[in-house]
Amino acid sequence: MAKLNLVIADTDESYVEGLYNFIMGHYANRFHVRSYTKKSCLYNFLSQNVDQIDILLVSLDLYSAAIPQDTVKTLIILSAGKLALQIDERDCINKYQHGDKLIKNIIQIFTDRNQGAIPVAAGNKQTKIVGVYSPIGGAGKTTLAVGLSMISAGMGSSVFYLNLENIHSTQTFFKCEHNQNLSNILYHLKEKNKNMILKIEACRCIDEANGVHYFLPPDSVGEMDDMLPEDLQELLRQFKIMGEYHVVFVDMSSSFDRRNIAIMEVCDDIIVIAAQGNAEQMKMNAFKQELDIISRKYDMHFADKMTFVLNKCREKRIDAMQHINDKDKHIEIRLPFHEALTTSKQISCYMDTDSAFGQSLNRLARMKITDETIAKGRKK
Ligand SMILES: Nc1ncnc2c1ncn2[C@@H]1O[C@H](COP(=O)(O)OP(=O)(O)O)[C@@H](O)[C@H]1O
Ligand SMILES: [Mg+2]
Repeated sequence: MAKLNLVIADTDESYVEGLYNFIMGHYANRFHVRSYTKKSCLYNFLSQNVDQIDILLVSLDLYSAAIPQDTVKTLIILSAGKLALQIDERDCINKYQHGDKLIKNIIQIFTDRNQGAIPVAAGNKQTKIVGVYSPIGGAGKTTLAVGLSMISAGMGSSVFYLNLENIHSTQTFFKCEHNQNLSNILYHLKEKNKNMILKIEACRCIDEANGVHYFLPPDSVGEMDDMLPEDLQELLRQFKIMGEYHVVFVDMSSSFDRRNIAIMEVCDDIIVIAAQGNAEQMKMNAFKQELDIISRKYDMHFADKMTFVLNKCREKRIDAMQHINDKDKHIEIRLPFHEALTTSKQISCYMDTDSAFGQSLNRLARMKITDETIAKGRKK
């Protein structure tokens, strides 16, 4: 797989140097970069260059309609604000925006203009997909998926938080502005876009505080309903091919339907959240029965890759909690009910290792991200 050939051409030397350094520091695996600040050097290079240039970013003072179209796949004008007139129907981006946003815009334009498969370099990480599921609504799937993402990122892992619920609360936890969201990804999946890795790069947000990557919620709830199980499997596979994340935490809905079964099939690990109470126990039993049926009928052994966690434990002392419900041998970790989670200080609870809740969640995170044995419990 290759890197994209990117040429930056602008007479502003310090701008070019800043952008070049940013790209080499953050996107060296994606781009091979050349830069020019003098018109003669740029045109000399363009006339002699035998390799195709994937993307040419060019300021207005270096632009000319005569730039040879056959050597440049995508030309983007770097402007210092909104252009008064569109130039030769060229794409144009604001050069003064955060480096990550600028790169996302560039990739978005490039993949929109080039519909064929673009060979791109993949990262070298073996991505572990961890589903966070519970048949019980409100059991704490989002709390745990978000908390585990933040803790894992804090431990130095490269993390994607993927919310596949119908209704998201993502923006309560993560902050980032972007004009793309999960709708764009769902659209490209349906269209069988050949450049899904680049589309993920163009659509993702990076949380300012924790560095967790994620998508903003889709425009409408119904869009998730239109997704076929195989579309979602394809998305998860693309994350694996991408090789850029150590772990993707998938925040799932509570239904045990074809979509969630498809997601579980691709997951390397599934955290299942149980809760105390009769109705909750009944739902969990029904879920386990269903797992049994699926394993016999379809030869899918999800139970092998599941870690059962009991959340909102009401017992006061964590050591006492570890001994309750001895019949629930399947429960590996118990997370206490933590009053502070129901307040606005929710986010700081995850990192607070002084609390019993924070300690248990950290233990769970270490279990998930240090375990290198991915792909356990595959279809036998
Ligand atoms: N251990 C806990 N202690 C106290 N409140 C919790 C705990 N875990 C989750 N909650 C709260 O329960 C509610 C539902 O949690 P959420 O993660 O949104 O559930 P789900 O995603 O499974 O529907 C939220 O208000 C959350 O703050
Ligand atoms: Mg949720």
